[in-house]
Amino acid sequence: MYLQRVKNESVWQSLKILFMGSLLIFLINIYFGFDNSLTAGEIERWQVLIHLHGGSIGWITLSAIGIMIWLVSGDRNVDTNYERRVRTLVWAAVLIFAGYVPSFGLAFSRPSGFLVALLPIFGSGAVIVLWVSAIFAFSQFKHQPVVTSVHFLAAGALLTAAIGATVGMLLGLERVIGQFLPLPAGDRVGAHAGMMDTYLFLVASGVVEWATRKEATRWSWAGLLQALFWMVGAALVPIAFFLNMVEQILPIFMLMLLVGLLFFLIRFAWRALANFSLSPGTKSWTFFGTLWLIIYMGLFLYGISLFMSGGGFEDVSWFAAVFAHSGFVGMMTNLIMGVIASRAQDGREVLPWGESASFWLINLGMLTFFVLKISSDIRLGAIVMGLGVLLGVFTMFRRLQAS
Ligand code: HEM
Repeated sequence: MYLQRVKNESVWQSLKILFMGSLLIFLINIYFGFDNSLTAGEIERWQVLIHLHGGSIGWITLSAIGIMIWLVSGDRNVDTNYERRVRTLVWAAVLIFAGYVPSFGLAFSRPSGFLVALLPIFGSGAVIVLWVSAIFAFSQFKHQPVVTSVHFLAAGALLTAAIGATVGMLLGLERVIGQFLPLPAGDRVGAHAGMMDTYLFLVASGVVEWATRKEATRWSWAGLLQALFWMVGAALVPIAFFLNMVEQILPIFMLMLLVGLLFFLIRFAWRALANFSLSPGTKSWTFFGTLWLIIYMGLFLYGISLFMSGGGFEDVSWFAAVFAHSGFVGMMTNLIMGVIASRAQDGREVLPWGESASFWLINLGMLTFFVLKISSDIRLGAIVMGLGVLLGVFTMFRRLQAS
């Protein structure tokens, strides 16, 4: 495992602040997750959106920035200027993302009035943070002792997220000044959502490779192609929507997703799966994250083919919930917990049982959630998963404090 301590103390502390921030913002998602579980009938849109973005922006994207900073800083000797830039980026990301998440709840629960403007205001801040992070990541390549495939995946992920988030921010702006984007009337959000759903593969497979490799090795063509297939594939989504060529372009997108997956399966997924360990630690989180990545990809391809066949999702009312949680909780939450477990190593004496109890509760809880949802359209199983996530957040937060 070459996911090791960052040499520079100040950067190491900045990462602690970033991960504590992302665990705290995740609480917004978890709170509304419990509320969703106990809600009968349709959940209001504002509630779905604050729940979704608490997880996808506050928890996952903020952590993806932390993963990149960790990776490009690594074993290097860096100067005070670098330390300051990292600290500024971390604080800006934490504060802006913490403001952006509640904006979804406020703007969508009160569709008129000044609160709607919060979306493009915080959205622009978030977009700037993501572009700065992506540029920072690529600009650090020349200082790396070894540029690995993980660097391409992590930096490529942030570039993809920056483009996708720009489209999202423009959709938020439309709510204030009216529609101006040339998007098809039916599904305008797809141009943003499809790209953001795909960027997760880059972060996730980067973490799996990072946690599975024994040491940093120079990038390979296979690794680069894996990153490129998923990056270009993700960029095809908004292009398809803007050119109104969804039917022509989405099959190419699906093919690119599959080819990227094939590279990942052959290169690292099998190693991560063979590495399963019952003891708490990054290995077991990575095992579960890899398993869910494959399931999420299967659901993704199934969802796109349903969308393209025009059949709609009426017969599979469970699909959105199972798809979202396989990717965001199954794949991403397992993997990010693994990364934070590594950052919080020095505090591992705190709640020694908390980590394994959390990963079993999360993963068995997800199964319970999905079985009940698919068989009887009941949401209550999500409570077990939610308790696992909450325990994981609490354990990691306390360990980070102690580390
Ligand atoms: C990264 C974390 C998470 C993300 C991004 C996320 C995302 C989503 C999304 C997009 C939906 C709407 C699905 C739809 O359109 O029907 C949803 C619904 C829901 N979420 Fe989450 N979620 C996360 C974590 C959680 C957690 C931790 C819990 C439990 C505490 C939870 C419980 C639920 C429930 C019960 C629903 C309603 C499902 C249904 O429609 O039956 N989620 N979530």
